[in-house]
Amino acid sequence: MSAIVAAGLVKRYADGARRVEAVAGVDLEIAAGTLVVLEGPSGSGKTTLLGLLGAMIAPTAGSVAILGEDVTHLRDHHRAALRRAHVGFVFQDLSLIGAMRVLENVLLPLVPRGGARPDERARAIALLERFGLGGERDARASRLSGGQRQRAAIARALVTAPEILLLDEPTAHLDGANAGGLVDALCALRDEGTTIVAATHDARLARDARVDRALTMRDGALVP
Ligand SMILES: Nc1ncnc2c1ncn2[C@@H]1O[C@H](COP(=O)(O)OP(=O)(O)OP(=O)(O)O)[C@@H](O)[C@H]1O
Ligand SMILES: [Mg+2]
Repeated sequence: MSAIVAAGLVKRYADGARRVEAVAGVDLEIAAGTLVVLEGPSGSGKTTLLGLLGAMIAPTAGSVAILGEDVTHLRDHHRAALRRAHVGFVFQDLSLIGAMRVLENVLLPLVPRGGARPDERARAIALLERFGLGGERDARASRLSGGQRQRAAIARALVTAPEILLLDEPTAHLDGANAGGLVDALCALRDEGTTIVAATHDARLARDARVDRALTMRDGALVP
């Protein structure tokens, strides 16, 4: 089964008078339960492609199907609902709210659903423990180290139990030991059946032997 199928994907931005083709014709199938790494130089379109694959943004042309459902022509609120149900995101800047407690940050994706049910709160606490943050759950997120922040952002992305996890530069702020730990965590999630796509510049992640597939982007296209 394919978790994500993209065909003829194009995303153009109008940047003043300049038009940028951030994604310029991508065909891609991501098999369910695989760990895929997306490499490429700065500006090659990795973040834009992740946004398209996860139904964060709508393509200019082409199509995206998530778990067999075509999301291309969905209205914004339907696309958002499908994304919230099936996709977890870890953004490049992590987007944790420093003044909020770690557990409150992890519970944030449940707010649009009306807040955490008791079982969801228990899941959030279990995720924090899994990622070595059990003792930090009542700390302000601003007090976490870089590696802890990264793990808290992943716990947050997983709180809705998504089938698909998309990460943008997940090792950007990590030293060697923390980067290795992150790859271990991603492999464990993949082995439990989660489909993972990670955009990265980082050879520590891209060259890891446990990665199922490494794709390279250049100028908005996948290098064959
Ligand atoms: N919202 C936007 N409006 C206009 N142009 C954009 C927008 N987002 C991205 N771009 C442009 O699209 C191209 C691809 O950007 P993107 O952020 O996807 O690349 P990237 O591979 O993730 O880069 P990096 O490695 O620096 O994160 C760049 O030329 C960028 O300037
Ligand atoms: Mg990027």
